Amino acid sequence: MEIIPYDPVYAEGLRPLLEDFERNTAKEKFIEPEVAMALSDLERGVDRALLAVDQAQVIGFLVGHYYRNQADKFRVPRTLEIAMVYVDQHYRKRGIGRKLTSQLIDDVSLREQLKVLKIISCIEDCNKPSIALHKSMGFRSSGSYSDGGRNYLVLRKSL
Ligand SMILES: CC(C)(COP(=O)(O)OP(=O)(O)OC[C@H]1O[C@@H](n2cnc3c(N)ncnc32)[C@H](O)[C@@H]1OP(=O)(O)O)[C@@H](O)C(=O)NCCC(=O)NCCS
Repeated sequence: MEIIPYDPVYAEGLRPLLEDFERNTAKEKFIEPEVAMALSDLERGVDRALLAVDQAQVIGFLVGHYYRNQADKFRVPRTLEIAMVYVDQHYRKRGIGRKLTSQLIDDVSLREQLKVLKIISCIEDCNKPSIALHKSMGFRSSGSYSDGGRNYLVLRKSL
């Protein structure tokens, strides 16, 4: 298994994982538009994305982007958001989520020209695996909010 930057040759392999991620986070009718938009953003290089690839198969991914506030209006300076982190169900609890997250942290810490000082992640409060993953990597709670009947924790890590 290796962690690589997003490469368009894996777009079709990534699609079912994106669909599953959206199934868990979006309403049914929004799955297709959200997946299409995520793939288009990746294609245009809007987001920083990493893939976990095993024998040419995509088994996990992480998408980070420059954070805009919850109303999506204002870019928050020097802050990167982990918008999605996902590992194929058959490969969970083998350290892949941790490797994806730690690779993102290393990448943005090493590239000083990006000037990222904080990484945040907004996670539904019932998502125990993801909250545990982030906390084990040094993210700390820094607030919460509700949206569409769901409650989210904001987790933050300073670099
Ligand atoms: C969250 C997710 C990415 C974790 O990926 P993973 O590869 O299974 O995680 P790892 O094996 O790297 O685990 C790292 C740490 O996360 C925590 N963790 C992972 N799965 C857990 C679980 N089921 N229960 C409790 N803690 C868990 C543990 O602290 C673990 O460290 P440990 O193994 O030393 O105890 C994966 O469960 C997933 O894809 N979930 C669905 C998508 C999602 O909810 N994403 C987050 C919303 S943005």
